[in-house]
Amino acid sequence: MTSISRIFQVPYSLVKDCYYIVNQTRPSEAMKLYHSLKDDIENRDHIMFIFNGVYSPLGFIKGSLRDSLNGRDSVIDYLFVDKKYHHSGIGTYLLKTYESYCLESGAQEISLYSAPTLQARKFYEKNGYSLVNPNYLMVKSLSR
Ligand SMILES: CC(C)(COP(=O)(O)OP(=O)(O)OC[C@H]1O[C@@H](n2cnc3c(N)ncnc32)[C@H](O)[C@@H]1OP(=O)(O)O)[C@@H](O)C(=O)NCCC(=O)NCCS
Repeated sequence: MTSISRIFQVPYSLVKDCYYIVNQTRPSEAMKLYHSLKDDIENRDHIMFIFNGVYSPLGFIKGSLRDSLNGRDSVIDYLFVDKKYHHSGIGTYLLKTYESYCLESGAQEISLYSAPTLQARKFYEKNGYSLVNPNYLMVKSLSR
């Protein structure tokens, strides 16, 4: 049985699970994520969805909404899937769930700030995101 759920307050066990998932492919990001989850998720307007496996999470997405003079938009901070389950549709499912939530919350655009690897870039391009500058900022406009 698998399911997707939104997390408001991240229990310590889940912080550790997410740390292990990130550490598989981007060890340099793992400690940053660990602190970010522990510090931010309870205090700020963070959005986190988990794809649950039978015994542990298989992937997660974390981001936030921002209000500016131009309206509301969203940023994706992290999207990681357990390496053993890459290429089985989990990343797409998490991203679509996140996009639907942002659209329902009035966001007009989603940006990605972390520099994607070539593989991740292809994944995002396939999902409608475009590279807008050499620092690898990728953006997608949301429309109904
Ligand atoms: C990028 C990532 C989230 C994609 O998740 P996923 O569940 O594997 O992706 P999906 O199965 O939903 O989508 C598949 C598409 O993603 C890309 N992709 C995913 N895994 C891939 C792999 N091992 N090799 C090549 N392309 C891959 C391909 O474009 C693929 O399309 P295809 O099936 O037509 O070839 C996942 O590979 C991952 O966690 N990567 C490491 C972390 C990362 O770079 N995150 C993004 C930056 S925040």
